[in-house]
Amino acid sequence: MPARQVLLIRKSYAQLVRHEHVAGLVFYRRLFEIAPQLKPMFKGDIEMQSKKLLDMLGMLIAMLERPHGLELELKALGARHAGYGVKDAHYAFVGQALLDMLAETLDKDFTPELRAAWTWLYGAVEANMKAGALEVTNAATEK
Ligand code: HEM
Repeated sequence: MPARQVLLIRKSYAQLVRHEHVAGLVFYRRLFEIAPQLKPMFKGDIEMQSKKLLDMLGMLIAMLERPHGLELELKALGARHAGYGVKDAHYAFVGQALLDMLAETLDKDFTPELRAAWTWLYGAVEANMKAGALEVTNAATEK
């Protein structure tokens, strides 16, 4: 990813961290609006939910810090998600909730360029996670 986009994402992430609670509320409200069927998967109060959102964003940012070598970690993360009951089709809902949350929280700072950068980043992480999930599903059916 070009240096300018990396910088933009980092700046927006710093903004989100400052509004951790609002970001958490907005993200899960939006996610459960577009995909109410996912609600039972998330246990815990808003504190925990906000922490999970930041963990998720942390993984996305880690991808920028060290795009190489992260693949295995992301695959393992995807495999754990398969264990949480996450299906491939769910990734699009989470991606949408993430973009909507960014739009609402960052408001006018969420430029088309920044949207494109986050979309790319989520897509890259999603692809690795799905590959990891597929490996465990295949391994399970081979047994
Ligand atoms: C780019 C996509 C995603 C990233 C980077 C991500 C990241 C994370 C991280 C770091 C955790 C903490 C636990 C762990 O490390 O295993 C977690 C937990 C979790 N994630 Fe994700 N996630 C993503 C997409 C999704 C999707 C699509 C779903 C579908 C509903 C989902 C549902 C969950 C659930 C249910 C948990 C555990 C919650 C609990 O313990 O109550 N995640 N995620």
